Amino acid sequence: MVIIIIFIIIVFVSFSPQIKKKKKMDRHDKEIIPEEILPVVIIGNGPSGICLSYLLSGYTPYLSPEASHPNPLLHSKLREQPHLSLLEQDLEYLCEGLEGRSSNPVAVLFDALLLPDSDFGLDHSSPLEWRYEPERAVPHLVLGKGPPGGAWHAMEGSMLTLSLANWMELPGLKLKDWMREKRRSVLSKQNDRATPTEIASYYQHYVSQMSLEQNFACGTTVTSVSRQPGDQEAAPPCWRVTGLQRREGEEFRGTQAPHVPFSMLAHNVVLATGTHDIPARLGVDGESLPHVCHSFWELEAAISRGELDQSSDPVLVVGAGLTAADAVLAAHHLNTPVYHAFRRSVSDPGLIFNQLPKLLYPEYHKVHQMMIQQQYEPDPPFPRYRVAAFRPDRKCVLESDSGRRTVVQISKALVLIGAHPNLSFLKDNGRTLGVNPEEPITCRRNPVEVDPFTNKVAAADGPGLYAMGPLVGENFVRFLKGGALAIASDLAKTQREGGGRGAAQTGSEVRVLDS
Ligand SMILES: *[C@@H]1O[C@H](CO)[C@@H](O)[C@H](O)[C@H]1NC(C)=O
Repeated sequence: MVIIIIFIIIVFVSFSPQIKKKKKMDRHDKEIIPEEILPVVIIGNGPSGICLSYLLSGYTPYLSPEASHPNPLLHSKLREQPHLSLLEQDLEYLCEGLEGRSSNPVAVLFDALLLPDSDFGLDHSSPLEWRYEPERAVPHLVLGKGPPGGAWHAMEGSMLTLSLANWMELPGLKLKDWMREKRRSVLSKQNDRATPTEIASYYQHYVSQMSLEQNFACGTTVTSVSRQPGDQEAAPPCWRVTGLQRREGEEFRGTQAPHVPFSMLAHNVVLATGTHDIPARLGVDGESLPHVCHSFWELEAAISRGELDQSSDPVLVVGAGLTAADAVLAAHHLNTPVYHAFRRSVSDPGLIFNQLPKLLYPEYHKVHQMMIQQQYEPDPPFPRYRVAAFRPDRKCVLESDSGRRTVVQISKALVLIGAHPNLSFLKDNGRTLGVNPEEPITCRRNPVEVDPFTNKVAAADGPGLYAMGPLVGENFVRFLKGGALAIASDLAKTQREGGGRGAAQTGSEVRVLDS
């Protein structure tokens, strides 16, 4: 008996360390075998991320042999090396001397090539020819919170139009053709514009039409992006991206789907989150009162609940951007009286209305006219006024530039003065990357500072960090494609110069790790 017990103990003792050892080795194995490093991770699946994914998937722009460009200088430059794709050409050289509505030179170049002369209302066809060259593809993964299309899905439900349809389109799929097919009617000049819902669904369709889906990981929230030190030859330094991914599947239908953590390594990270995550606040007393809203959709919700009509107290709209104009128009539509308060003077060239072509934007022009001629019925607007305080009794104190105070009774206030990105996954919310590192990142006042020809972040912790879209000050879809061209061409250049970072690793599988 004793012998048997001793034997059992010996057996147990001699086996158990092995079990422990084995477990330890497993864990160790994981650390030794270098995790696969993805060439590119794109954070954000709006039009910026989609457009870059298209270029990284092997769709390559060339000058079409028969094509001509209306700009003779650009045309002759493009003719110098017609066998080279646009990704191999010297963008800085091509950009020289071009002018357009964006301050980003590559954006102006790409726009001039995709939509020549569109500012003059001419429909000159693009001299670019897109060839599918899968051998050029760079494996990449696009992370986004919702379905592809980014912020455009949040705009769903709006009856308002935003921009000329062809300005919103991405290369290779004419938005007009797609809309025509969808609406099953011929588009007249008048409804040449698309609603945000149509745009969102176009972007989603684009991703499947171009077979980009396998590069998109939706339902993901990135929680940190940090520099990962190298491990001599075994593992070069790179970026570590961690976050949470919502589990998809039948079994989670109708329940709160669990979020599983993921962690991955990448040579290059592209910040393409847009800047619409967190609405900007005035920072005045009473701003958190329930009748003070910070998004257009709260107005829409109030309208659909029937809270506003012509007998309501006026709605106060604060701000002078397009969203504020949308709110003014929506309230007008209901015959609800509107107070409109904005800081700038109506003739300020920085005012968005003074930058939009009148003919193309008749309703925004109407709002601008109302601002200028003080035609708001029955109440005049409040140019160069700021909100001093909101009060619980729904009174609002406005103060003019000259210090004059007015108290107005309102039903609701809509503070629509822009938004900030949520860059909480970066050190110090990404502040250190801004043109002014003391201030939070915003699209118009403090964008991320990048090289204009590569979109590389100037103050990055390491090589291979890029930013594009509204984060670098580009708010129109029409122009953010330039960032995609700059980044794709810089990655292609690195690839040509000897592989390493950003090089295509054929056969490597792109997926989100589960742990
Ligand atoms: C920013 O995003 C993080 C997670 O990604 C979230 O926890 C946080 O609440 C967000 N911040 C704001 C102000 O929305």
